[in-house]
Amino acid sequence: MRFDIITVLPSLLESPFAHSILQRAQKKGIAEIHVHNLREYAVNKHKSVDDYPYGGGSGMVMQIEPFAQCIEKLQSERTYDEIIYMTPDGVTLNQEMANDLSTKENIIILCGHYKGIDQRIRDVFVTREISIGDYVLSGGELPAAIVVDAVVRLIPGVLSDETSALSDSFQDGLLDAPIYTRPAEWRGHRVPDVLLSGNEAKINEWRDEEQLKRTKDRRPDLLKD
Ligand code: ADE
Repeated sequence: MRFDIITVLPSLLESPFAHSILQRAQKKGIAEIHVHNLREYAVNKHKSVDDYPYGGGSGMVMQIEPFAQCIEKLQSERTYDEIIYMTPDGVTLNQEMANDLSTKENIIILCGHYKGIDQRIRDVFVTREISIGDYVLSGGELPAAIVVDAVVRLIPGVLSDETSALSDSFQDGLLDAPIYTRPAEWRGHRVPDVLLSGNEAKINEWRDEEQLKRTKDRRPDLLKD
C-alpha cells in the first residue's frame, strides 16, 4: 500500500513514520509513505502557495494550482483509490473507516494550513474528507499521520501477531478489557485472580464481561446498535 502526502511542512512528518510499527512496515516493503513538499509546485517566483480570500476575511487560503500540479503528476504515475483532505469539517475517523482504507492500494492525503484550501480543490480532486475529532489543529499533518498509523497497522503482515489488530478496542465495537503484567501484586494492588488461574474459558468470559462493563461505563453510545 502506498501513501503520498502533500504538505507545506514535510519535516513535520519525518518522525511519525520513522519509528516502531510504521518504520517496520516500510522496511518490510508492505507500506510506502512518500511526503511531497507543496512549495516545489508553487507557480510564482516567491514560492508562495497561498493567497487572500475572495470576498475578504481573515487568514490566507491555499491556492489550487500547486495542489493540482502535484496531484496530476502523481496521477500520471499510478492510479489512486482515494484523495483525502484532512479537515475538521470532514467525517470523523473511526475504526470502520480505517479498516476500509486498509484495503486500498494508493492514497493521496492533502494537508491544509492557514484558513484552508480553495474549495475547487475539494470539488475537483478530493474523494473523502476526514476529521480526527471536533477540535481545530494548526494543520493537516498530524491528522494525516494519525490516519496513516491507524490504517497501516491493519495491513496483514505489519503486526507480528496478526490477531492483535483484530483484538484492538473498537474492532468488535467494544473497548478493551483491563490488561496486566508482572508483578502479580504491586503495593497491595493485585491482578484479578482469574487472570492467574490458567483457565482460558474463564479468562475469556471475564474479559468479555469487563469489555462490556467498560464500554457501558465510558462509551454507552457504542452499545446503541
Ligand atoms: N486540520 C485541522 N484540524 C483538523 C482536524 N480536527 N481533523 C483533521 N484535519 C484537521
